[in-house]
Amino acid sequence: MVGIKGVAAIAALPLLALAQVSYGGNTTAGNGSSVLPNGKYQISSEGIRANYIPYGASMSNLFITDVHGAERDIVLGFDNATYYSESKLHPHLNGVPGRYANRIKNGTFTIDGETYHSQLNDNGGLDTLHGGSNGWDYRNWTVVAHTTDSITFNLVDDDGEEGFPGQVIAYVTYTLTPYQWHLRMTALSTTKQTPLMLSSHTYWNLDGFQNPSTPLALNYTLHLPYGGTRTAIDNIEVPTGDILANKQYGIHDFWSTPKQLGANFTSPDLLGTCGFNCTGYDTCYIQNRDAYGPYNWRQAPVATLASPFSGIQIDVYTDQDAFQVYTCNTMNGTLALKETQGFFNDSSRPRVSEKYGCVVMEVEDWIDGINNPEWGRDKRQIFGPGDDPYVLEAAYNFSLNHTLAATYTG
Ligand SMILES: *[C@@H]1O[C@H](CO)[C@@H](O)[C@H](O)[C@H]1NC(C)=O
Ligand SMILES: *[C@@H]1O[C@H](CO)[C@@H](O)[C@H](O)[C@H]1NC(C)=O
Ligand SMILES: *[C@@H]1O[C@H](CO)[C@@H](O)[C@H](O)[C@H]1NC(C)=O
Ligand SMILES: *[C@@H]1O[C@H](CO)[C@@H](O)[C@H](O)[C@H]1NC(C)=O
Ligand SMILES: *[C@@H]1O[C@H](CO)[C@@H](O)[C@H](O)[C@H]1NC(C)=O
Ligand SMILES: *[C@@H]1O[C@H](CO)[C@@H](O)[C@H](O)[C@H]1NC(C)=O
Ligand SMILES: *[C@@H]1O[C@H](CO)[C@@H](O)[C@H](O)[C@H]1NC(C)=O
Ligand SMILES: *[C@@H]1O[C@H](CO)[C@@H](O)[C@H](O)[C@H]1NC(C)=O
Ligand SMILES: *[C@@H]1O[C@H](CO)[C@@H](O)[C@H](O)[C@H]1NC(C)=O
Ligand SMILES: *[C@@H]1O[C@H](CO)[C@@H](O)[C@H](O)[C@H]1NC(C)=O
Ligand SMILES: *[C@@H]1O[C@H](CO)[C@@H](O)[C@H](O)[C@H]1NC(C)=O
Ligand SMILES: *[C@@H]1O[C@H](CO)[C@@H](O)[C@H](O)[C@H]1NC(C)=O
Repeated sequence: MVGIKGVAAIAALPLLALAQVSYGGNTTAGNGSSVLPNGKYQISSEGIRANYIPYGASMSNLFITDVHGAERDIVLGFDNATYYSESKLHPHLNGVPGRYANRIKNGTFTIDGETYHSQLNDNGGLDTLHGGSNGWDYRNWTVVAHTTDSITFNLVDDDGEEGFPGQVIAYVTYTLTPYQWHLRMTALSTTKQTPLMLSSHTYWNLDGFQNPSTPLALNYTLHLPYGGTRTAIDNIEVPTGDILANKQYGIHDFWSTPKQLGANFTSPDLLGTCGFNCTGYDTCYIQNRDAYGPYNWRQAPVATLASPFSGIQIDVYTDQDAFQVYTCNTMNGTLALKETQGFFNDSSRPRVSEKYGCVVMEVEDWIDGINNPEWGRDKRQIFGPGDDPYVLEAAYNFSLNHTLAATYTG
């Protein structure tokens, strides 16, 4: 788990209260909340139940009842907590990428005149992705609090890990309230100026892979009302520095009206949008809310995703200024479904997530802002010992969209 230095650092914090873990049967940890036999920590509230694991501080299951009255497990994952460390696939399954999410150009950045090199773990060594090969969502976090409706994880990331300067101490709290999932991430840079940009990298299939007419996510409608611009990327998906307009009716127009993710998949404009020879979305949409006047992030969603089959709708609220959409373009049918998902009676439907079988929605800041100082993101992305803590907050509101479900034609 954490190193010697890390133990000393967190022991100094008053919050520390280690929860029990048991793989033998349900255990009470915190106040009445259960640890399941498969090693997952369960929390719940009215209309919502979720499981979490220490690996990556990841959500492993999220159960919502749909318009058919059926409970669907609407996130990807594995059946038990231990398998996350065993699987060779490592697809960043619903954890916390860190200490710097998405790509860092050439794994190189400069702070106060000093140049640093983070580990080059992507594109055959051309850039850093999600904090390197031992990024935060590949590590076991420590459970420091667990009640019936909330869980808090802690991670201590040492100076020099993956090439990043300075020690960082992070906490992530997930809380459920009726029909809502809240997340709050805080991180303190304790010794040096360092880049910090976190996210929640959750893979969604709002049908629990139980839509008889399609296992894919391309029929979900997405609305990004503030997403009028995006960061341009090169053919290995590293930002070029340019900010592009998402023209109305173009493939990136999710702002003017809700649109099915697959609506423009036959458009030649989509080829290359997610890197060389890649068709699909892996796009950082800038959330330009300031342009519309003062706002309270809790009052209007930056994103709404809904499935016509299940009717399950997610409204995403966040204090972050960018929103990444990834349509699982590089999935190839090797990632197995959980026992809680898909069909067991249909041999024509392999129990795997296929290409475009899911969509990842990442609340975050402007990707690779540390290499594009002209964007003015330094105050949101570079933190030192004298600074306020890094904070990321988001709320996911789950509801049933009966109007949309009525249009289902499967
Ligand atoms: C353990 O928890 C699961 C999920 O909440 C529940 O279905 C099961 O009945 C519990 N088992 C015991 C022995 O309490
Ligand atoms: C949990 O329960 C204990 C004893 O029943 C109580 O002292 C404590 O305040 C409770 N903690 C929370 C977070 O509710
Ligand atoms: C844990 O889950 C994985 C994949 O979800 C499965 O292959 C494995 O058999 C499970 N292990 C146990 C002990 O159930
Ligand atoms: C790219 O990174 C390498 C080390 O990883 C470094 O030697 C080189 O100077 C960097 N190139 C640029 C243009 O920053
Ligand atoms: C995480 O914890 C699990 C279960 O305790 C263990 O099997 C695994 O080796 C750990 N993985 C890492 C990356 O530390
Ligand atoms: C994208 O799809 C929308 C909705 O079907 C359509 O109005 C628009 O013309 C399409 N744009 C392109 C570039 O194909
Ligand atoms: C582009 O992708 C298609 C389909 O995935 C593949 O058949 C083709 O070989 C690829 N072309 C190149 C130049 O990599
Ligand atoms: C499928 O994707 C996995 C994970 O990215 C990769 O390890 C594997 O090589 C891919 N298989 C094929 C046939 O492309
Ligand atoms: C499989 O079961 C589902 C309900 O769980 C049902 O809707 C579907 O028709 C069944 N499919 C086959 C091929 O029997
Ligand atoms: C969730 O979103 C729906 C649809 O926008 C809205 O009607 C409902 O009031 C929201 N629920 C909460 C708890 O904010
Ligand atoms: C239901 O979904 C449709 C299509 O995405 C959307 O236009 C409508 O606003 C949604 N309804 C609610 C209450 O959010
Ligand atoms: C899925 O969307 C496509 C167009 O993007 C449409 O042709 C098809 O009927 C839709 N299927 C369902 C089940 O909504």
